[in-house]
Amino acid sequence: MAFVRKLALGGAVAALMGTTSVASAAEQVEVLHWWTSGGEAAALNVLKEDLAKKGVEWLDMPVAGGGGEAAMTALRARVTAGNPPTAVQMLGFDIKDWAKEGALGNLDEVATAEGWDAVIPGALQEFSKYDGHWVAAPVNVHSTNWVWINKAALDATGLGVPANWDELVAVLDKMKENGITPLAHGGQAWQDATIFDAVVLSMGNDFYKRSMIDLDPAALNSPEMVEVFNRMTKLRSYVDDNFSGRDWNLASAMVINNEAGMQMMGDWAKGEFLKAGKVPGTDFVCIRFPGTQGSVTFNSDQFAMFNVTDADAKAAQAKMASSVEDPVFQSAFNVVKGSVPARTDVPDTDFDDCGKKGIADLAEANGNGGLFGSMAHGHAAPAAIKNAVYDVVTAQFNGEYDAETAAAELANAVAEAQ
Ligand code: BGC
Repeated sequence: MAFVRKLALGGAVAALMGTTSVASAAEQVEVLHWWTSGGEAAALNVLKEDLAKKGVEWLDMPVAGGGGEAAMTALRARVTAGNPPTAVQMLGFDIKDWAKEGALGNLDEVATAEGWDAVIPGALQEFSKYDGHWVAAPVNVHSTNWVWINKAALDATGLGVPANWDELVAVLDKMKENGITPLAHGGQAWQDATIFDAVVLSMGNDFYKRSMIDLDPAALNSPEMVEVFNRMTKLRSYVDDNFSGRDWNLASAMVINNEAGMQMMGDWAKGEFLKAGKVPGTDFVCIRFPGTQGSVTFNSDQFAMFNVTDADAKAAQAKMASSVEDPVFQSAFNVVKGSVPARTDVPDTDFDDCGKKGIADLAEANGNGGLFGSMAHGHAAPAAIKNAVYDVVTAQFNGEYDAETAAAELANAVAEAQ
């Protein structure tokens, strides 16, 4: 774990050193992001091309590392050096934290002119606004409780799509028997935590809320949480020997290339399948993690705009924010990214079946009290608590704790991080 963290930090520092400081130029945005996989880069291109058409020059600051931990380290260094990027891909509570520090700009003018209040869901506005002012422009809504299954491998089991935990285990067992790695996974803390999100949610909406949102110690250290960790141990038995440290998109590639049966990952994984020319329903199947249908653990990528003094830079920020919220862009980008629009008025016409399901599931969850921020992706609690959860989840996944100890450690770690 410590080793994995160090590697991530190394990447961040390297990326930082490769970045020269940016002189202010007319209509220019320097954008820090972690969209470096094939599917992510394809989606980002939609934005780059859109801005190029509008005469805004794009200065790229990619910091590789799924989940964005390395990107956030690089950002801290840039801000400390007094030279923040113009716009930064950011998740949930990180936006609140930077806003609290007074580091973010103000997008009220463009937001008011374009009526964002009426079309961006409240669950996102919670993070896009600070103190009543718009500080970030939401790009999408992702969710973490998905499973991406190789269709041929599923068919070969002779079993149907799993609808609950026991059926999931039956499918995984059968895949193992069939000589395929049942679960493609990368052993990185954020990926372990992404599966954990879904397993916690599979114990019920109320349990997810009490443990991950309310951080209730009685839920964190409970028989239900012990069961969650037992399930994590079970899932660990289906990964291959080389899973440690693997990047998430390489795990997706295992499913794409018929080397593995399934991946439990947010819907950015769909971007990889599409990039590889795979078709939902034919080559792969997308389902909600068994036992979580009707509920959604979401995260939303937003472009947080940093304080800039230069008038041209401010204008470029406003142009970028306006482009991001354009309904046509929202459809074009999210179709490629695997996410769903950050506005409620974008038609699902251009989305594939998984995208249509994503849009419908989000509306359903929002209507029935089943929509929750993802702990793994910074929408349930601030970074200090998220990192405490990561540490326990990863230690347990790698056999350091039994399930009972892990539940007790989780409650302790969360209490200490608050
Ligand atoms: C982001 C996604 C990204 C994924 C993997 C998530 O935290 O929200 O946009 O594709 O990490 O890098």
